Amino acid sequence: MTELKNKVAIVTGGSRGIGAAISLELAKQGVKIVLNYVSRPELAEKMVAEIQEFGGEAFAVQADVSNSDDAARLVQAAVEHFGKLDILVNNAGITRDSTFKKLSEEDWRKVIDVNLNSVFNTTSPALQHLLESDGGRIINISSIIGQAGGFGQTNYAAAKAGLIGYTKSLALELAKSNVTVNAICPGFIGTEMVQAIPEKVLDGIVAKIPQKRLGTPQEIGRGVVFLCKDGAYITGQQLNINGGLYM
Ligand code: CAA
Repeated sequence: MTELKNKVAIVTGGSRGIGAAISLELAKQGVKIVLNYVSRPELAEKMVAEIQEFGGEAFAVQADVSNSDDAARLVQAAVEHFGKLDILVNNAGITRDSTFKKLSEEDWRKVIDVNLNSVFNTTSPALQHLLESDGGRIINISSIIGQAGGFGQTNYAAAKAGLIGYTKSLALELAKSNVTVNAICPGFIGTEMVQAIPEKVLDGIVAKIPQKRLGTPQEIGRGVVFLCKDGAYITGQQLNINGGLYM
């Protein structure tokens, strides 16, 4: 088991939803958090305050991770502030749902840029620092949609499936080092993103989940803690946290 106290983590998209819960759960283990956000400083600062309230360490960095200069600045800020980097959680993600017939090129590209190209942008500057850690972790937040597809989600599914292929390939390349690379595939989790699904559609989705409920963001956060803490011999995997919706 890896002691997580004083490890340093970057969590992209850490100010709300699943990213906020990941930041919180890691911070509870004593991990120092670099909380990345793109557009809502007040939410990021609220999360930082919440972490500091129980004695944790965190600071927020504005960066659009679909932009490689911003992503490099984010990694640099983490290393300058805390002196090292042990954990990279690539969580930032958006949806632009539309049936393919109506899908614009802009919405295709935007989703691929934010959900998939961002991972190149963050991992490239982070990698050397992770290799210098005594137990580096890269955790990519993919989705059940990348495994099973989703109605109205060709762009999102392509990006999330891309994350899984990237996870396996990078895991192979880094297997001889101290860095593990894994994906978590959440099912439908009770966040703003899922609550935006039309009510009728969402009711239909919940009815199909074997456990008959949405997951909680904390359940994904604890999955990240598990991979960081007990995951030394786990690499290249998809950890499904989905209430049995995809097996
Ligand atoms: N399965 C089957 N049929 C569906 C469907 C589904 N999941 N969703 C919509 N449809 C059907 C509708 O019932 C409708 O059929 P009829 O014409 O026969 O009535 C038809 O598709 C068109 O639906 P809309 O009227 O809603 O059409 P629209 O063009 O306004 O919107 C849509 C289409 C954008 C796909 C919209 O239905 C929608 O937002 N659906 C939800 C998509 C979704 O599940 N997103 C998940 C977001 S959460 C997430 O992605 C996080 C994660 O990682 C899990």
